[in-house]
Amino acid sequence: MEQNVFYIKTFGCQMNERDSEIMAQTLSSHGYHESMNYQEADLVILNTCSIRAKAEQKVLSLLGYLRKAKENKPSMKICVAGCVAQQEGARLIERMPHVDLVIGTQQIYHLENHLQRVDLEGSLVITGLLDNYEIPQFLPEISQLGRVSETLSSSPAPRPCSRFVTIMQGCNNYCTYCVVPYTRGREISRKVNEIIEEVKALAEEGVKEITLLGQNVNSYGKTNTVKETGTKYTFTDLLKEVSQVEGVVRLRFTTSNPKDLTDDLMRSFRDVENLCPQFHLPVQAGSDRILKKMNRKYTVSEYLEKVDKLHEYCPEIALTTDVIVGFPGEEDEDFEATMTLLEKVRFHGSFSFKYSDRSGTRASAFVDKVDEGVKAARLYRFQNRQDEISLERNREYLGKIKEVMIEEWGRDGLRGRTDTNHIVHLNNCTADYFPGDIVAVKILHAGQHSLQGEIEKID
Ligand code: SAH
Ligand code: SF4
Ligand code: F3S
Repeated sequence: MEQNVFYIKTFGCQMNERDSEIMAQTLSSHGYHESMNYQEADLVILNTCSIRAKAEQKVLSLLGYLRKAKENKPSMKICVAGCVAQQEGARLIERMPHVDLVIGTQQIYHLENHLQRVDLEGSLVITGLLDNYEIPQFLPEISQLGRVSETLSSSPAPRPCSRFVTIMQGCNNYCTYCVVPYTRGREISRKVNEIIEEVKALAEEGVKEITLLGQNVNSYGKTNTVKETGTKYTFTDLLKEVSQVEGVVRLRFTTSNPKDLTDDLMRSFRDVENLCPQFHLPVQAGSDRILKKMNRKYTVSEYLEKVDKLHEYCPEIALTTDVIVGFPGEEDEDFEATMTLLEKVRFHGSFSFKYSDRSGTRASAFVDKVDEGVKAARLYRFQNRQDEISLERNREYLGKIKEVMIEEWGRDGLRGRTDTNHIVHLNNCTADYFPGDIVAVKILHAGQHSLQGEIEKID
């Protein structure tokens, strides 16, 4: 085979990170080698995201740039995978004729076959979406576990200690702004035994922290049979089963739609010992009128009731959220309602975005679009206030002793994470600590986005 060096650039969410790992694993098992430098690659893969216009523009400009690289090295093959590939399909090759292969989100498992066809037939677009299919079982290979960390230099061989495990794919919610149901297809859940098998394999390799991953994990098992017996089995059941796998020290999950958040699941924060006291619960907006237009299917008071319950079951829980500002029809009073919600919940952190029109979504056809300047001003206000609150929240940890899992050696020393998911920079580190170690840390400094502390001497 001529091509044997590949390069993958991943955009977007952890779904794409995981898909890139699977592609890397498939290629490695067919004799390819991964490079961190696209110039030496025979095969360049862009695993793309189309959640907002900006994410898609990044991909298009990188593709434009790759045209030159291919001119210098005509044997280079360019493959576009992921959500932009799924959405744009043949249009991508029309605009960018130097692209050789466009594969949709369900096609990554057959990458090698598609590449062989490109060799024989020339450029190819494969983006079919099946409503009901099996997610192939791809046990992570140990050689792939360190992939992401490979880019870190000057570090003592990083040990991957924290991994994402996909439990479901796709989404059936059709929030009116969101492209995911179109790019990932219908929601399907992986089988319980396959998930457990993957978690066990990871734990045996020394992975201590598992994050269960899906677009809406709370509806796990609702759309297909996940247990051979066909008995009713919920996400809470899965969480408990995973929590009992030997070696899983910390357990997290993401993402949850508040409409599907059950009392059972909330109680897990009290009852499941290794479930971390941290929860990402995207609210999107603080106005019922806007939530309705977004098709979120919950009200602000229902959301707040759940927040209260979560605090009741787990007083130290750290909540984070996602917010969209400037959704079509958002008036000043709607936005003020989002600011009020922020004051009520005082999230530890949030990801906030200006509404971005995505073709094919229902909201893209709404006529009452908000002016770009107004969106920018609202985002600025929201983020400023969130930064202040994050700092106040982080200061609550000053002087406290927190358990920190060491993650990696960065440029400025050792870095770890609390169970509440706060990043902690460690001052007095020595080379004796390795990723995965859990240490007691006294928090000495609190910034907006991270904490700083010293490892307590344990005699
Ligand atoms: N499944 C997750 C969301 C995945 S997308 C959930 O339901 O929470 C991550 C975030 O991107 C969303 O929570 C939303 O805040 C943001 N987002 C999605 N579509 C967007 C759009 N068209 N414009 C701006 N932000 C968007
Ligand atoms: Fe998108 Fe809504 Fe599905 Fe999340 S739940 S992926 S925001 S459609
Ligand atoms: Fe982006 Fe697709 Fe993930 S649109 S956020 S890569 S599901």
